[in-house]
Amino acid sequence: MILGIETSCDDTAAALVTAEGEVRASVVSSQADLHARFGGVVPEVASRRHLELVSPVVQEALGRAEVTLDDVEAVAVTQGPGLVGALLVGLSAAKALAWARALPLVPVDHLHGHVASLYLAPDPVEPPFLCLLASGGHTLLLDVRDHSGYRVLGTSIDDAAGEAFDKGARLLGLGYPGGPALDRLARAGDPDAFSFPVARVGGLDFSFSGLKTALLYATRQLGSELESRRADLAASYQRAIVRALVERTQGAGEQTGLETVAVVGGVAANSELRASLPGARFAPMALCTDNAAMIASAGRYGRRLPYPRYLDLDAYASHG
Ligand code: KG4
Ligand code: ZN
Repeated sequence: MILGIETSCDDTAAALVTAEGEVRASVVSSQADLHARFGGVVPEVASRRHLELVSPVVQEALGRAEVTLDDVEAVAVTQGPGLVGALLVGLSAAKALAWARALPLVPVDHLHGHVASLYLAPDPVEPPFLCLLASGGHTLLLDVRDHSGYRVLGTSIDDAAGEAFDKGARLLGLGYPGGPALDRLARAGDPDAFSFPVARVGGLDFSFSGLKTALLYATRQLGSELESRRADLAASYQRAIVRALVERTQGAGEQTGLETVAVVGGVAANSELRASLPGARFAPMALCTDNAAMIASAGRYGRRLPYPRYLDLDAYASHG
């Protein structure tokens, strides 16, 4: 059994996963309500909340799996990328647990974690495959040849797809986090009502920052009509994001010849994206947004560091 811990942003999560990839427990304590009134994640507030939640969340996961720390053979934890203060809480908790129980520690890259959400039972995706990773912080096309890593084929040169959803939702008065709310509102709207072009950038890269400006102008032009057109705006805006993701993913499929296409990350929960890539494998809904089952899953393929090697590990904010 591997214990996974994830605290890279505003979810405090712990999970227990077997060596075969069976999820025995996955607990996610979202801080969304805490950050909603600020319209986004406040890093310092997130760190403090992780500190309060990390031990109870680990306890809850052990309880739900009906195991104790005696059944755990390794601790896997997110090392980065993410908010450094938030990451340090999970990393420190993992080091303490590993030391106290004489267990090895496996540092996990959060993005590899999202990919590894595909390796869990009962229906794991086997490499090689092309992976679209679309979350609040990242939009990447990945060439995945084995369980232990990936090669980056393309990335967003500005905003991430989830960020575009969140910023659009904010302009439409939908609160934070806006992706799921925008997804719901779009179902009642006409996706052809407005034309929101997505900037074309070279290679397999993405660009989403111009889109929110287009939405801002559209809302201003509507003036008093805005309220009655919100669903149409949401549907048209979502259509533009999904189109960009689908076009690039299909382009990457043709370029690489990879036949299996998989989609992971928070935006993989989007209903229109799921409908627009019918042949693709999507991470299960519960494992799209941040969770620790995916971190434990990635931990199965990472290097197990013995004491005292893991003590030197530091959190990192980004890959750059
Ligand atoms: O993977 P994730 O939990 O966190 C990061 O690693 O960033 O992704 C969160 C992102 C947010 O931007 C959220 O708005 C978006 O995923 N999201 C969605 C949906 N559910 C979550 N975006 C569009 N449609 C959804 N149904
Ligand atoms: Zn994530």
